[in-house]
Amino acid sequence: MNEAASLLTLAIETSCDETAVAILRGETDMVVSLVYSQADLHAQYGGVVPEVASRNHVRKLPYLVREAVAASGATMGDLGLIAATHGPGLIGPLLVGLSHAKGMAFGLDVPFLGVNHLEGHLFAHRLHAPEIEPPFMALIVSGGHTSLIDVHAYGAYRLVGRTVDDAAGEALDKIGKMIGIGYPAGAEIDRLAERGDPKAIPFPRPMVGSSGFDFSFAGLKTAVLYHLKKNPRERHVDIAASVLASVVEILTKKSIEATRRYHRRRLIVVGGVAANAHLRRGLEAAAAAHGIELSYPPHELCTDNAAMIAAAAAFRHRQFGESHPLSLAPNPSLGIGEEDERADSGS
Ligand code: KG4
Ligand code: ZN
Repeated sequence: MNEAASLLTLAIETSCDETAVAILRGETDMVVSLVYSQADLHAQYGGVVPEVASRNHVRKLPYLVREAVAASGATMGDLGLIAATHGPGLIGPLLVGLSHAKGMAFGLDVPFLGVNHLEGHLFAHRLHAPEIEPPFMALIVSGGHTSLIDVHAYGAYRLVGRTVDDAAGEALDKIGKMIGIGYPAGAEIDRLAERGDPKAIPFPRPMVGSSGFDFSFAGLKTAVLYHLKKNPRERHVDIAASVLASVVEILTKKSIEATRRYHRRRLIVVGGVAANAHLRRGLEAAAAAHGIELSYPPHELCTDNAAMIAAAAAFRHRQFGESHPLSLAPNPSLGIGEEDERADSGS
């Protein structure tokens, strides 16, 4: 086995409320991936409290790193690259993971690499299906992000559209809070919707008819709030089904249209909301109707994890010889594919 194929990368992901550590061999061989979710700690507040998240990352991370190394069968000395998410995300939580990774890289005298969390989500798909190569259109849809990215090649991205206000998952979490579902609410809304009527309440489809590929979900959230004020006894299953009908229609129409406009044959869907059964069904029907190939990773790779961060790091290290100085700062508002001018037409 050559050196690149056997390089062991340890990655840390702490951009929000998941403490995650993974070890990857080469670029796609996931050796171990551990995710400790703090969701229960934040549920009582109805959302992530940054300071609580930071403190618990500090508490959990050293144990998770040790556990990952032990489970991998390797030793600390076998690690060849240390990576961590350096943005986007919450500044405190990012600092915890980044500092830990830098300390390890310094102590082990190996290269260190900061990873863009959004690029990480794209690499979750590579871990799932390494044989599927770009170009493709990618929908990143999670609690923090809703973006359409044209992936010309790994490392060559163009931002096609993004939310102008809330992310889709964020809107679902806030709507969940209104109907008394614990944080995070996306998966429970998915389950409730199975028993509801998607046509019960005609919630708006913000920006669905607009010409560009940007999204907006704040209006939907407000519509649910007003509807609940007027109809406090509305069945939660019908609210869930009607909300998802709106979210799925918006995400499906924009993603399929972007894939066609940019002349891509495949659409990949990643991020926590990509686990949504209704969204998957909606996308499958639309993709089939337009002859577009569709793929998404399994649930555990859709939601935040460190394996995807390790995969992005290993790729960039081998392909571009990339590593970063230990002075690399966290960047809470790091974007992706924004250098290129955004255009409405892919031609
Ligand atoms: O990717 P992720 O773990 O974190 C971010 O980068 O934001 O995504 C978390 C989001 C939450 O908003 C959660 O409610 C949502 O993904 N989510 C879902 C489902 N599972 C998780 N939303 C809809 N349906 C699901 N099955
Ligand atoms: Zn994420």
